Amino acid sequence: MKLHRDLDAWRADRAGLESTRLGFVPTMGGLHAGHRSLVERSVTENDLTVVSLFLNPTQFDQAADLDSYPADGARDLEVLADWGVDHVLAPARDDIYPDDYRYRVSEQSLSRELCGAHRSGHFDGVLTVVMRLLNLVRADRAYFGEKDWQQLELVRGMVEAFFVGTEIVACPIVREADGLALSSRNARLDATQRRLAPALYRALVSSPDADSAARRLAGQGFDVDYVEDRGRRRLAAARLGEVRLIDNVALPEPTEALRDAS
Ligand code: PAF
Repeated sequence: MKLHRDLDAWRADRAGLESTRLGFVPTMGGLHAGHRSLVERSVTENDLTVVSLFLNPTQFDQAADLDSYPADGARDLEVLADWGVDHVLAPARDDIYPDDYRYRVSEQSLSRELCGAHRSGHFDGVLTVVMRLLNLVRADRAYFGEKDWQQLELVRGMVEAFFVGTEIVACPIVREADGLALSSRNARLDATQRRLAPALYRALVSSPDADSAARRLAGQGFDVDYVEDRGRRRLAAARLGEVRLIDNVALPEPTEALRDAS
C-alpha cells in the first residue's frame, strides 16, 4: 500500500494508471466495519482501490465536533493495509484548500433540508471536498454508504450536474447486532448512551409514522433534530448528549389494499 501525503506525487502516480480501473472510497478516518464494506466492494469491482483519509474542516459547523472526531491516523493506515487498499491519499488541509475555501460547491434545495437545516454549511463543505477529491482521483467508481442518505443523494446529483465521469456506488448500512448503524461517532457514546442508541433504529422501523417515531425518541431521552419520511425512506437525526446520530430505513411498499384505498 502506498501512502501519498503529497498531491504532486499522487498526480504523477495517477498519470501512470490511465488504463487501470480505479475504485475510490473517501473517508475522514476513524475507520470501522462500515468503511470496510465499502473498501471490500471496491477491491472486488476494480483493479486498484484508493482511499482518502482527510478530516475535512469545512463540513463541521461546530469546532468541538471537529476536535472530538475520533480519527487515528496510524491505526487507520494499519487497517487499510489489512483490507487490501493500494493507495491512500492523506493530504494536508492547505493542499486540499489552496484557495482557502473561496471556491465551493453549493446546492440550493435538498442541502438546506433535513441535516442541512440543523448544520449550517455542512453540505457545502461535503460537496466541495468530494468534488475536489473526485477530480484528484479520477476514479471509475466511488463508494458511499447509505447511512449518510442525504449526502449520497447530493453527491449523486452533483456528479450528474457537473458531468463528473465517476460512477457513484451506494452501499448498504452496516449495523451492530443490536441495530445501531455503524458510525465513527459511536466511539464517543458513553456506556449509558450506547445502551440507548439502538432505540433510534427500533423507533424508525417499528413506529407507524415519522411523528410517532420522533415522540417515542424524545420520550426515551433523545434530543430529536428530525424524523421525516421522504418517498420510501424514513430518515432521522437525534442527539444523545453531545453525540449526533443519524439513521434511515426503507419503508415497506404499501400493500395492494392500501394502494387502492389511497
Ligand atoms: O462521509 C464521510 O465520511 C465524509 O462526509 C466524506 C464523504 C469523506 C467527505 O468528507
